Amino acid sequence: MIALGADHGGYELKEAIKKYLDEKGIAYKDFGTFGTESVDYPDYALKVAEAVASHECSEGILVCGTGIGMSIAANKVPGIRAAHAEDVFSAKAAKEHNNANILCLGGRITGPGLAVMMVEEWLNATFQGGRHQRRIDKIAEIEKKYSK
Ligand code: RB5
Repeated sequence: MIALGADHGGYELKEAIKKYLDEKGIAYKDFGTFGTESVDYPDYALKVAEAVASHECSEGILVCGTGIGMSIAANKVPGIRAAHAEDVFSAKAAKEHNNANILCLGGRITGPGLAVMMVEEWLNATFQGGRHQRRIDKIAEIEKKYSK
């Protein structure tokens, strides 16, 4: 189950991603927002990040105007590795190297065709483990050092 979230800047791209997921028969839970009225992206980043961190959902996709605010906010939740990407190579590497459990996209940056390709590559990619696992473990150590 994929957790989806967006602010007003990402709403339309979220809807395009939902269309793709529907076509592929991939299950998702939409945490909003549900229109183009101005909202605050951290509220939706938190909902999706908590759903992923608690394993209610396996992975998440967050969309704001740039994808930047969503990634900054989602990465505050322990266990989240949210990757902001603007190209297919990065989206794929985000899973293969970083085991990113949330993909953050910019609705004002990335068009629906490219975004869907990025989502597809990220969803279908496999974490490569090995030296990448060691590096992710080090990220988790940083998280632990600063959590109360
Ligand atoms: C909202 O105007 C915009 O700041 C937001 O969608 C996002 O781009 C923040 O990073």
